[in-house]
Amino acid sequence: MEARLTAIRNFAAEKMNQDHTGHNMDHIQRVVHLAANILETEPTANQSIVLAASYLHDTIDDKLVVDVTTALEELQQFLALHYNHDEVAHIVHIIQNMSYSKSLGNQGTELTLEGQIVQDADRLDALGALGILRTAYFGGSQGHPIYDPEIKPISYQNKVDYRKGSTVINHFYEKLLLLADTMNTDYAKEEGQRRTQFMHNFLAEFFLEWQD
Ligand code: ADP
Ligand code: NI
Repeated sequence: MEARLTAIRNFAAEKMNQDHTGHNMDHIQRVVHLAANILETEPTANQSIVLAASYLHDTIDDKLVVDVTTALEELQQFLALHYNHDEVAHIVHIIQNMSYSKSLGNQGTELTLEGQIVQDADRLDALGALGILRTAYFGGSQGHPIYDPEIKPISYQNKVDYRKGSTVINHFYEKLLLLADTMNTDYAKEEGQRRTQFMHNFLAEFFLEWQD
């Protein structure tokens, strides 16, 4: 691994180790691996930018840090030790514009190919077996019920409502099952479909056992 990527991984590990909502370093490592897989199918992308943004993508998230402005300044100072001005701007632009919550209620900001790859990798880790577990884990951390037939899924139009959330099962209908259609790269479109099918199977089994 490039020496600067080791420094970036260590910076991310230090920032992420306090998380108990399913966004810890395990998530980061999976996103990095998924992004590396996608990179093999996208030879024109800048690998170093993709991997750096993958490591750092949750370090200035309002879910995880109290003061986003200070976290951003610290991140920019750290990145400037390893990347030139344009590269720092590119990495920060990816991190600030790739999230699902950012795209709610509007068209979202256009991402570069590198940004599209990181976004796909992050969204793939929201799907499949890991996606199911992370969603239950997040819901538990927020005190959400597993399921309540009286509470209907919501079509979120803004981040504030999205953050409140409802039930664990609703989150599948409110977000997770919609993600496969938002993938950018061919690799993620295919893998996203596969993981989404697994979640459909899981939900069918869930409702069978629930016997509503
Ligand atoms: P983004 O960072 O792209 O805006 P989030 O960080 O909000 O996306 O979501 C990442 C993962 O956290 C989701 O895929 C899901 O597993 C979990 N999560 C987020 N919001 C909820 C919620 N309201 N209920 C259950 N899980 C959630
Ligand atoms: Ni993430």
